[in-house]
Amino acid sequence: MGTDSRNEQAKIAAGVYAASLVEDGQKVGLGSGTSAWHFIRSLAKRIEEGLDIIAVPASKASRDLAQELNVPLVELDDITGLDICIDGADEVAPDGSMIKGGGANLLWEKIIAVNSAKMLTVVDPSKIVKTLGQFALPIEVTPAYYGTTIRNIRELLAEKGWEAVSVERRMNGDSPVITDNDNFIVDAKLETITDPAGLAIALNQIPGVVENGLFPAMSKGVIVGRPDGTAEFL
Ligand code: 5RP
Repeated sequence: MGTDSRNEQAKIAAGVYAASLVEDGQKVGLGSGTSAWHFIRSLAKRIEEGLDIIAVPASKASRDLAQELNVPLVELDDITGLDICIDGADEVAPDGSMIKGGGANLLWEKIIAVNSAKMLTVVDPSKIVKTLGQFALPIEVTPAYYGTTIRNIRELLAEKGWEAVSVERRMNGDSPVITDNDNFIVDAKLETITDPAGLAIALNQIPGVVENGLFPAMSKGVIVGRPDGTAEFL
């Protein structure tokens, strides 16, 4: 089995295990990305078998998948918070800090995570790191004056001693990647992120930055799937 296929099996295992933890009556946040989509598929099977929940999606893609699978969706604005949300991650550190936004969905994901009593993260083993930063940090910025915002991000990182290897707008061929909120994504490659909470706050002070993909110590449990189909809490 190739690495991609092993990771895929591990993501399925993590998603299925996470779905088995959802309880009747819960309000559930549906994350985004391939691992979270395995969770949504498995949750949909449990709903078919009688599980009674309502859910809020963390991206348009997750909303579309949930609708296709008849997962009952509500608006986050119409309820008071969620009991649990299950989402993927691009990197997870030992304290539960994460980098997210590889799929450009970090804003809805963070709103859902902050408004959930408990966030669980579903990953394959490749996402577990000692220190965040190998994965370039996604930052959602407004299209207006994005070039200036990128310059301000570079200056902030230099001032704080978080020397950036690169800070670039994310492209898909010749076109910029556009988020669910019609914004751009900027990827900041930093080597190591030693103070995720401090960096997350500092980045959000820059006008033009809508939100960043750092989720400092937010996950209350990391479920790691394995290629053999098993999954466990880290
Ligand atoms: C999307 C995300 C995803 O959760 C993250 O990129 C992980 O995705 P995958 O499970 O496909 O590896 O943050 O913005």
